[in-house]
Amino acid sequence: MSSTGGERRLLIRDLEQVATPAGTAAPLRGPALGEADVVEHAYVLCAGESIEAVGRMRDLRRLDGDVDELDGRGLCAIPGLVDCHTHACFAGDRVEEFALRAGGASYEELHAAGGGIMSTVRATRAAGEQALADAVRKHRGWMLRAGTTTFESKSGYGLDRETELASLRAVKAAGGVPTWLGAHAVPPEFDDADAYLDFALAEVLPAAAEIAEAADVFLERGAFDADQARRYLTACAEAGLVLRLHGDQFTEQGAVPLAIELDARSVDHLEATGDEGVAALGRSDVAAVLLPASALFLARPMPPGRALVDAGAIVALATDFNPGSAFCESLPLICSLATTQLRLSPAEALAACTVNAAHVLGRSETRGRLAPGYGADVVLLDAPDWRYLAYHLGASLVAEVILQGERAELG
Ligand code: NIG
Ligand code: FE
Repeated sequence: MSSTGGERRLLIRDLEQVATPAGTAAPLRGPALGEADVVEHAYVLCAGESIEAVGRMRDLRRLDGDVDELDGRGLCAIPGLVDCHTHACFAGDRVEEFALRAGGASYEELHAAGGGIMSTVRATRAAGEQALADAVRKHRGWMLRAGTTTFESKSGYGLDRETELASLRAVKAAGGVPTWLGAHAVPPEFDDADAYLDFALAEVLPAAAEIAEAADVFLERGAFDADQARRYLTACAEAGLVLRLHGDQFTEQGAVPLAIELDARSVDHLEATGDEGVAALGRSDVAAVLLPASALFLARPMPPGRALVDAGAIVALATDFNPGSAFCESLPLICSLATTQLRLSPAEALAACTVNAAHVLGRSETRGRLAPGYGADVVLLDAPDWRYLAYHLGASLVAEVILQGERAELG
């Protein structure tokens, strides 16, 4: 084992298991999605912000120099989880709406009546930049406690220049990957979606493209149609942004063909996607990001996870954390839903929220695996077998999180 000079090292020793998606390829699709490497009675050695080695305890040689040690007995190590789809920059909550939905009101009806997304827009606009930065930091803390070491967050609750840009800055300041969701809803000061897009593309896009890595659009009845989405995304691509879409959440409105036409990085939701869309994604390089907490929270049909994997699609999993359709920051819970509801295996679920989610965020060379050279983001599960990640439904499984080689304060 080679020493890396003066770097701070951390040895996590005597682990029950280390589990990681196999190989080095990314993204993973087809049978490769379900291949995990599992090492029993294992260690992980971090050097600085990287992983130096992973192996069996019996092969561990004496380490020279200062090495911090962490006792891994009773624990399993998996890669830091990657949440590639959240809406973590918001103020207020929607607990009243949640209670109304329990009484029979539908999410789409509340949205059409000016509630839903627009009620969070009102709270977010009123909050001010400091409060937004504090909110993202708080939500980031919740995610970390659930094992998420890399997160994306969209804007989309400002829909005016000042609040959209403040949202993107808040996400970046909290260490997140910012996505400009400039086309989330049409705010009431505009007559229609086209008039709003005239404003957003002329007045917000140039500055948003300086901060964000990607652009996203809600392509759905009551939000933006396929022509409007094409116009928005084409302008965003010209400004250098990666393209993503919210598509087929309630109805198929052409999101999958549009994502393929525009060479988008991902199309997310897909609860309403039919056989044709599944087959098309299977043949394309557009990732299918599945958000089963949103389907659960809205009591909607689950996305066709098994069919997408079997068709050869690039499948990723994410929380969709937001105050309206998925108030859930836990990727372990998502893995449970993926296994019980989408019929993915535990290994497929793990790869979908590590390697493939890192691919969606353009970070698969450094994130999503426990292997030499990858970033030292490690989650230690309080479990005798790593598959408890999906098996122990709703549990507080995360015992420790190592973030860039350091033990994170979980608060
Ligand atoms: O991904 N459907 C569009 N956007 C979010 C929900 C936003 C909200 O309800 O506040 C989603 O589900
Ligand atoms: Fe979303």
